[in-house]
Amino acid sequence: MPIHHLEGHLLSPFLSADPPTFPFVALLVSGGHTQLLHVTDVGRYALLGDTIDDAAGEAFDKSAKLLGLGYPGGPALARLAEFGDPDAYALPRPLLQRDSLDFSFSGLKTAVRTHAARLDSTCEQARADLAASTQAAIVDVLARKSMAALAAAGCDRLVVAGGVGANAALRARLRLECEKRQVRVHFPELALCTDNGAMIALAAAMRWQRGIAETSTDYAFDVRPRWPLVAA
Ligand SMILES: Nc1ncnc2c1ncn2[C@@H]1O[C@H](COP(=O)(O)OP(=O)(O)OP(=O)(O)O)[C@@H](O)[C@H]1O
Ligand SMILES: [Mg+2]
Repeated sequence: MPIHHLEGHLLSPFLSADPPTFPFVALLVSGGHTQLLHVTDVGRYALLGDTIDDAAGEAFDKSAKLLGLGYPGGPALARLAEFGDPDAYALPRPLLQRDSLDFSFSGLKTAVRTHAARLDSTCEQARADLAASTQAAIVDVLARKSMAALAAAGCDRLVVAGGVGANAALRARLRLECEKRQVRVHFPELALCTDNGAMIALAAAMRWQRGIAETSTDYAFDVRPRWPLVAA
């Protein structure tokens, strides 16, 4: 059965102990994608927002590299950030002011590069502060756009999927914002946030159950270069 890789990520929270129900807004934050979707059923996905440049995962990975951390940078940057001050550096929150659900992270990366170049690399506290400020900027943008997407779609359920969904600061912030709005929030199990076979099998099973297993042509996303829909 041809299964779209991102659909696997998207449906992975259904493998958790507290699975969601349809409809919901999905925040898909993987290594190569940052998207907000309005999901009404399996195969019924409307794109609400997308990144116009780097994905959130890339922002984590590239910033981590600038801080001398290895790949994948997300978990390493998150660990370093634990000891840092998230308000130490005023980093940009691109597209936040605009009435748009799209994301842009390349400006943040440039700002991190500028600060990293000036940094005393032997000062562990300064590195931790920059890591914490970077994480805070990414989390802030993801959380605020997710809340705007919930309001735009009139949904009271948020589903987070993809590797960045493992980030503890993102989880904490989304839990807080959702609680304020009486929105239910769902995450995949930590082991199922990044690429795994179970999410692909689950997407196949859910399509099969609904009798939409035979082709991949009924994917209802907009076709865009970063979302190649034709299965190999
Ligand atoms: N705890 C964490 N905090 C922040 N980022 C994280 C964390 N854990 C993983 N990541 C990030 O998640 C990304 C990997 O996620 P995933 O496996 O979903 O992406 P991918 O499958 O490579 O991308 P895609 O599916 O878009 O092609 C990397 O960018 C990694 O840095
Ligand atoms: Mg993936």
